[in-house]
Amino acid sequence: MLIGLSVLGAMGKMGKNILALAANQSNYKVVMGTSRKCSERPTLQKIANMDINMTSSAKLAIHASDITIDVSSKDTILYHLEYAKQSLKPIVIGTTGHSIEIQKKIEDTAQYIPIFYTPNFSPGIALLLQLVEFIKTSGFCENCCVDIIETHHIHKKDLPSGTAIALAKATDKEIAEDATTKNKSSQVRIHAIRSGEVIGEHQVIFEYGNEQIKLTHQAHSRDVFAQGALAAAAFLIDKKPGLYSNINNSLI
Ligand SMILES: NC(=O)c1ccc[n+]([C@@H]2O[C@H](COP(=O)([O-])OP(=O)(O)OC[C@H]3O[C@@H](n4cnc5c(N)ncnc54)[C@H](OP(=O)(O)O)[C@@H]3O)[C@@H](O)[C@H]2O)c1
Repeated sequence: MLIGLSVLGAMGKMGKNILALAANQSNYKVVMGTSRKCSERPTLQKIANMDINMTSSAKLAIHASDITIDVSSKDTILYHLEYAKQSLKPIVIGTTGHSIEIQKKIEDTAQYIPIFYTPNFSPGIALLLQLVEFIKTSGFCENCCVDIIETHHIHKKDLPSGTAIALAKATDKEIAEDATTKNKSSQVRIHAIRSGEVIGEHQVIFEYGNEQIKLTHQAHSRDVFAQGALAAAAFLIDKKPGLYSNINNSLI
């Protein structure tokens, strides 16, 4: 099955990466990309060495394709949800930093269309979340103190990362408002670092008595996320309306 794909935020780091990988996959045909720098009328532009029909209109891009991947900005999600709902088209949401209210809106819209939503497309992070949930159910976690350290490039807009929040939720402990306060076994402290061009690192540290368990995930390339986004679109294309993810929905 040939999937007609639109990418919102096509000129961004993730957008370019997804387009470059989609070009090498025979099951995808790139229909359109969006950028605020373009005019509404679709025009061919070279992105990632390909000629892509680019428009400033997310509405046009969503309506023209079979499925859309949104890696633009959290600020435009309400419009994108509305356009996808109007056209009854599935949408993969990869943007992060959404409020509880927006997450509720995503859930509500998923009653009408299939939506795949994740703060992290990486299979390794999905496994890390399962490992954290496993440790949570062990006696070790009950009285332990948990710290999460996440490091990302200096351009990342949200802080802490959506993935760090999901990891914190997986421990079932309350997230400490101030990560510099003394650690307590009832809380998890998230330490966010923005440094250089780091693609993404998450470390979960469980400390109890004289022992410590450290789980670390490092993304070496954005291809990890781009590949995951394309796999999510292929998975979602023939699904019924509903909210889907590569991680437990309650952790998002
Ligand atoms: N789920 C995952 O696995 C995963 C992985 C990495 C990143 N992300 C998330 O994906 C999003 C994009 O990340 P990125 O690293 O690619 O960022 P980026 O390089 O800044 O690209 C985002 C692009 O979206 C467009 N954009 C920004 N603000 C916009 C707005 N208000 N309205 C419309 N378009 C806007 C910009 O393009 P123009 O200026 O050309 O319009 C920008 O180039 C972020 O939310 C990030 O946290 C998710």
